[in-house]
Amino acid sequence: MASARFVVLQVLLVAAALAAVPFVLSDPPPLQDFCVADFTAATAVDGFPCKPASTVVDDDFFSSAIVSGPNTSNPFGANTTRATVSAFPGLNTLGLSIARIDLAPGGLNPPHSHPRGSELVLVLVLKGEVMVGFTSGANRLYSKVVKENELFIVPRGLQHFQHNVGAGDAVFVAMFDAQSPGLVVPTFSLFATKPAMPMEVLAKTFLMGEDEVDVIKSKFAGF
Ligand SMILES: *[C@@H]1O[C@H](CO)[C@@H](O)[C@H](O)[C@H]1NC(C)=O
Ligand SMILES: *[C@@H]1O[C@H](CO)[C@@H](O)[C@H](O)[C@H]1NC(C)=O
Repeated sequence: MASARFVVLQVLLVAAALAAVPFVLSDPPPLQDFCVADFTAATAVDGFPCKPASTVVDDDFFSSAIVSGPNTSNPFGANTTRATVSAFPGLNTLGLSIARIDLAPGGLNPPHSHPRGSELVLVLVLKGEVMVGFTSGANRLYSKVVKENELFIVPRGLQHFQHNVGAGDAVFVAMFDAQSPGLVVPTFSLFATKPAMPMEVLAKTFLMGEDEVDVIKSKFAGF
């Protein structure tokens, strides 16, 4: 009898813990009006300590980080400019950030994900036509060609890509509900690690011969 009650209690505790999970996954809510990042602080915390309020100035809440387009002359024809907390200290503790992505004609922001609790990646196309796609846990691909002022949403943590399918350059911004959403690009995580991923792991993963894996690896040698 007592043990049955104990099991019920355990089930309730697990249910309560699961219910709390969504609040734990994204950035925690701030505890003060603002906490402008102090990059010079000697202490390390999960995030950045706050500058003393007396030293906070208007420019701490302003950023021109994404005003100008970066150089897209690279093999992917893509380049990302981030206004995350490290470039924009006023974002510290606010659970928000933004990035500008420039794509040359045919350019591709290769499949990647943002691990740190970005609840969503909201893609707003400023110029051009961009095919945005993400894959679900069931390996279904959801994609749309997104044009100027149109939006597409990428749910938290899922693999996604952006491909310029228009005739000219394309520019879009991605908005995150995290001050530093992080970035994982599986191709780089597999083929450009230091030290290198063991060959047996790569060959087995791709059901390929080692010579075929070497061909792919050679393409990522410069990254
Ligand atoms: C992205 O653009 C910046 C600024 O133009 C440039 O310094 C950087 O090398 C570019 N990165 C790549 C991968 O092309
Ligand atoms: C862009 O990068 C390429 C390759 O690094 C370089 O040749 C070119 O001069 C750069 N363009 C500008 C406008 O900086």
